[in-house]
Amino acid sequence: MKSILVTGATRGVGEALTLKFAQKGHVIYALARTRSQLNSLIEKCGVDKVIPFEVDVSKKEQVEEATTAIEREYGTPDVLINNAGIVENVSFADQGLEMIDRIVDVNLKGTLYVTHCVVPGMIARGSGRIINISSVAGTRGIPGQAAYCASKFGMNGFGDTLAQELLPKGVLVTTICPGGIDTPLWDSDKNPYPGDKTRIMQPQEIVDLIEFLVNQPKGTLHKKIVMFPTNEWH
Ligand SMILES: NC(=O)c1ccc[n+]([C@@H]2O[C@H](COP(=O)([O-])OP(=O)(O)OC[C@H]3O[C@@H](n4cnc5c(N)ncnc54)[C@H](OP(=O)(O)O)[C@@H]3O)[C@@H](O)[C@H]2O)c1
Repeated sequence: MKSILVTGATRGVGEALTLKFAQKGHVIYALARTRSQLNSLIEKCGVDKVIPFEVDVSKKEQVEEATTAIEREYGTPDVLINNAGIVENVSFADQGLEMIDRIVDVNLKGTLYVTHCVVPGMIARGSGRIINISSVAGTRGIPGQAAYCASKFGMNGFGDTLAQELLPKGVLVTTICPGGIDTPLWDSDKNPYPGDKTRIMQPQEIVDLIEFLVNQPKGTLHKKIVMFPTNEWH
């Protein structure tokens, strides 16, 4: 059984990952900001399977506190899945500076903070797997998503570098770049999905891919995977 740290564990892809891995008997360190949703995750999975941490990944101190507690109580996680993310579909000129900061802080800096806290333990142990959930917005520009694209291109550059640095240390880093997924990220009123919602991917498809990766032997690195609904091209 593995220990798996999942950021953004309470909704969408992160929740689907947590439910699946908990059901398979793994232990999940679940990070997200909303306590009530962390509690409902525990109710669904059991206290022995989900260890909750109320954390905003863009806040260094909160990330350090949670990862230090995980390290102290349970040891370094076997797997880190950097999944927490936010998006706003607004043209760049109309996007406020606060929202730009927020998108970069959560998606990019949050990924760097959590990874920076977990990597030393993985290096010391000589094993580990890091999976970053980026986006097709990290492979090409998408109008309406300038700050989001900037954050996801940043994640891809980070993942590529980290994969090279950590390969000789026994730690495998994979970047996944999905197209549209049917999750609460898209709100039909406030933040409608810009593509065809009837052709969108399901969270389970990302979960299946991650389950495959986590169970792979260490002889092969899946460095970057781009996946999208067949009515899109990226
Ligand atoms: N949905 C798509 O079409 C799509 C496509 C490509 C890539 N992605 C990427 O996939 C990942 C998951 O997206 P999703 O669609 O599952 O999103 P979602 O349904 O909106 O869920 C986002 C999760 O992240 C958490 N979160 C948000 N801000 C956070 C913060 N500052 N600190 C800690 N946790 C935070 C949320 O919980 P709290 O709000 O309680 O913190 C929630 O658990 C994201 O990185 C997203 O960019 C999504």
